[in-house]
Amino acid sequence: MMATRKKKLIIGTNTKMTKNIAETINFIGELNGLTQDIDRQEMTLFVIPSYTSLESARKSVGRDSILLGAQNMSWADHGAFTGEISPIMLQEVGTDIIEIGHSERRHILGETDEVASLKVKTALKNKFIALLCIGETIEHKNLDISDEIMAIQLKTALKGVSKDQAKAVWVAYEPVWAIGENGIPATPKYADERHHKIKQVLIEIFGDEIGMEIPVLYGGSVNHVNAVELIAMPNIDGLFIGRSAWTAKNFNEIIRDALEVFRNKVSCSNQFISSANI
Ligand code: PGA
Repeated sequence: MMATRKKKLIIGTNTKMTKNIAETINFIGELNGLTQDIDRQEMTLFVIPSYTSLESARKSVGRDSILLGAQNMSWADHGAFTGEISPIMLQEVGTDIIEIGHSERRHILGETDEVASLKVKTALKNKFIALLCIGETIEHKNLDISDEIMAIQLKTALKGVSKDQAKAVWVAYEPVWAIGENGIPATPKYADERHHKIKQVLIEIFGDEIGMEIPVLYGGSVNHVNAVELIAMPNIDGLFIGRSAWTAKNFNEIIRDALEVFRNKVSCSNQFISSANI
């Protein structure tokens, strides 16, 4: 008999270089207050602040309310790597998630799929959630090779990850052309098609059961209007938001609208599974 879906909405933000320690603490405190009534059994909420804010942020909120992530991490646990931050140091300040391969790291700071692969394995070995960001450029899209590019990104970064470790992998699909000030958000249909292909690759790598369970989030110019349309799509499991989530009030509004749509989606899919089992 097929099990019904008990999926949680996963929703979070990366604050990039926008908030200092005091601003991060205020933001997280306000966000936590505004979302207190939302059962964390049905939603995982995360914030990825600056490295310098992580320790104070962790002291200000429990991981049962808000998971905290680092925007990057060294692939080495120890060693002479000036300027890098080790996973051990991130554990020390209570980090839960490591963001790996964000578009800005790949395209401005020169990170490759091979580096992403080392970081994924280091993050998993150190018991973090590895949030792997992938996505095609506008050139790839125009050449109609987006799915091929993302298959390469996934297969390279996840090479050598065991099925058991894969349970701590999250993927964020963030088309490069959709991110930031000049970004054009992907249409829900386009994003859902890419998510479907991403899930097929994850199934190819890890098999049906594990591959299907890896959450795939959408990011890139998510706003109050498109958030609900995106989350309504069958293959979009969560949202990874930049600018529109940087005030607690806006983020809370997006969370509430997205959660309502997400609940309906899960309940419809469970009704479908139950009726298929009759
Ligand atoms: P944006 O950022 O929502 O401001 O486009 C998304 C991201 O960088 O992950």
